[in-house]
Amino acid sequence: MRKKIVAGNWKMNTSVSKGEQLAAEIVEKSKDVEGVVLVVAPPFTHLTKVADKLNGSQVALSAQNCAAETSGAYTGEVAASMVADTGAKYCILGHSERREYYGETDETLNKKLAQCFANNLIPVFCVGEKLAERENERHFEVVKTQLYNTVFNLSDEDFGKVVIAYEPVWAIGTGKTATPDQAQEIHAFIRKTLAEKFGAKADDTSILYGGSCNPANAKSLFANADVDGGLIGGASLKSDDFIAIAKSF
Ligand code: PGA
Repeated sequence: MRKKIVAGNWKMNTSVSKGEQLAAEIVEKSKDVEGVVLVVAPPFTHLTKVADKLNGSQVALSAQNCAAETSGAYTGEVAASMVADTGAKYCILGHSERREYYGETDETLNKKLAQCFANNLIPVFCVGEKLAERENERHFEVVKTQLYNTVFNLSDEDFGKVVIAYEPVWAIGTGKTATPDQAQEIHAFIRKTLAEKFGAKADDTSILYGGSCNPANAKSLFANADVDGGLIGGASLKSDDFIAIAKSF
């Protein structure tokens, strides 16, 4: 059975102390959340401190990225082993902001996937089309190519661990959300595409929706058969909103 997951991507927000406070609030308010895996992804600098706050709770820790290399002379990079050392269990990979602003290619992402698996981190692997691609009805093709070039290279065993996040770029931070029908349509397509390679194992893959998900629209998005939760940006910075989303199944 696939898991329901609500993950908060804090992006480049919060000071360390504000991040600790947010984590503590989420832990406190999550006590009556059942049947949902909760994950928070603060900036690298916050990981060890936030790990302390999450200790003993049902909220798991994630990084937002990791290096493609194992260790060595890579100034400014953070290795997957270092991320794992903080107590993090997850790592977001291939977010559209990383692809767009930092030139992450499928080749880089394949290396990052390998680093995650080598260090027992569960990748939350992001795919999604840009506005022009959606308008030209190329979204299926774009997402399929993203998957073919990356996730399709995984062994069956590693594929069994990966979480997919579908994030239409036009919906991220814009206040525009995919309609529940649009989300279901492409999530079902993603699952069908994954099944072409991995068969019935794709039924166990959690596919999260991301892009302006908030307490007002989460319920209608999560009600869809192939939407297994959300990757939440802006709304994950307020503990009440994040928990309200987690209670939207
Ligand atoms: P948003 O971001 O919820 O602020 O749109 C989602 C994401 O980028 O993961």
